[in-house]
Amino acid sequence: MVSANVLLMVTGGIAAYKACFLARLLVQAGFSVKVAMTEAATRFVNPLTFQVLTGHPVATDLWGERQTEPLDHIEYSRWADLVVIAPATANCLAKAATGIADDMVSTLLLAHDGPLLFAPAMNDKMWKHPATQANRTVLADRGASFVGPGEGFLACGTNDTGRMVEPESILAAVREVVVVPASSAENSGFWTGRKIVITAGPTYEPIDPVRFVANRSSGIFGYALAAAAVAEGARVTLISGPVANLAPRGLDGFQPVESGREMADAVAAALTADADWLFMAAAVADFRPTNLAESKLKKDELGKDWSLNMVRNPDILGEVVPLHRSVDLRVVGFALETDDLLARAEAKCQAKNMDYVVANDPTAPGSGFGSGDHQVTLLNRRGEVWASDSAPKSRLAAELLQQLALDQMDEKS
Ligand code: C5P
Repeated sequence: MVSANVLLMVTGGIAAYKACFLARLLVQAGFSVKVAMTEAATRFVNPLTFQVLTGHPVATDLWGERQTEPLDHIEYSRWADLVVIAPATANCLAKAATGIADDMVSTLLLAHDGPLLFAPAMNDKMWKHPATQANRTVLADRGASFVGPGEGFLACGTNDTGRMVEPESILAAVREVVVVPASSAENSGFWTGRKIVITAGPTYEPIDPVRFVANRSSGIFGYALAAAAVAEGARVTLISGPVANLAPRGLDGFQPVESGREMADAVAAALTADADWLFMAAAVADFRPTNLAESKLKKDELGKDWSLNMVRNPDILGEVVPLHRSVDLRVVGFALETDDLLARAEAKCQAKNMDYVVANDPTAPGSGFGSGDHQVTLLNRRGEVWASDSAPKSRLAAELLQQLALDQMDEKS
């Protein structure tokens, strides 16, 4: 499973702008992300950009002059499961190799004793310099990981080695470096080899060729669940509505869909192929426009006041799943409610014949659409099984799998 807390350190190179995309990708992948920047990095990108992308204040100086609260750097480093330095300049590699701690980034780095991932970015001569290569070797010998640098056009005008690799490659490297929490050993084996179908994201219900009706689902939790299940050895098919997330590695199948009806067909097909578990984490639109206009609707023709007729979409859990359900299939639905959450979730569990329902309130503190953190309650038809703390979605997804495994094992014993 993916680890949760990533401290992204940005040092002063032009590739700092790409670190913004990396921060966004990490958040979308379900990591909780905080950022620290060197003084030079803040000359390339304003810390506010990272603050908005991650939802956390950015650590820039040791003296509390440019931040709202004084920062305990030991605590900040302790929080991080993984530190990613992207871009990593020659200067930062040198400081890390020798243990210099003269600014926020190098101090946090020295105070962190967990995994480190460097994504170097510099001029080709600086990269090839024996001093930099020696620093790289020292860090690698101490267990640090490196991704890149790659070859290509450098800001200094040459075409050579020194370019920071693309954010997607850094995210892939993060997934390789992250640690497996000891707690996942508790249910090790339960998910191994099980065939799991997970739906995620919103659906787009087309009005005309360019417009659609949708909702705010980010797909982060469904994707985190898929990544956690893959890490537990399950054979996972992910059916996804339109989202910006990258599909986790190691899936058995990935099926992108747009509308609720497409999702219903994809779920039916996946269940026919003998699934053991279905997780309906998608926020399927309840209604779709009754008619799909063949060409773009013209506002002048629609007039000043226009209303759209909608018709019910198939209820996948309520109507489609029963037609394709094998006796052994376990069904986990999701209930998102802003009022009477648990009562409504329990009622839904019965009405839709689910084995479990994961109840979540997007307005609760520490939860929400597009946010890295989340808080859920797991219920079965007899009542509450587990209430989580607010935690990053990646950690929550792994814990949810553990709780389900434990509950299943209790049921059998
Ligand atoms: O009844 P409600 O739509 O709130 O139930 C939510 C659960 O039902 C979620 O697991 C969702 O994925 C699923 N659902 C469905 N088909 C729909 C709408 C929601 O299976 N058309």
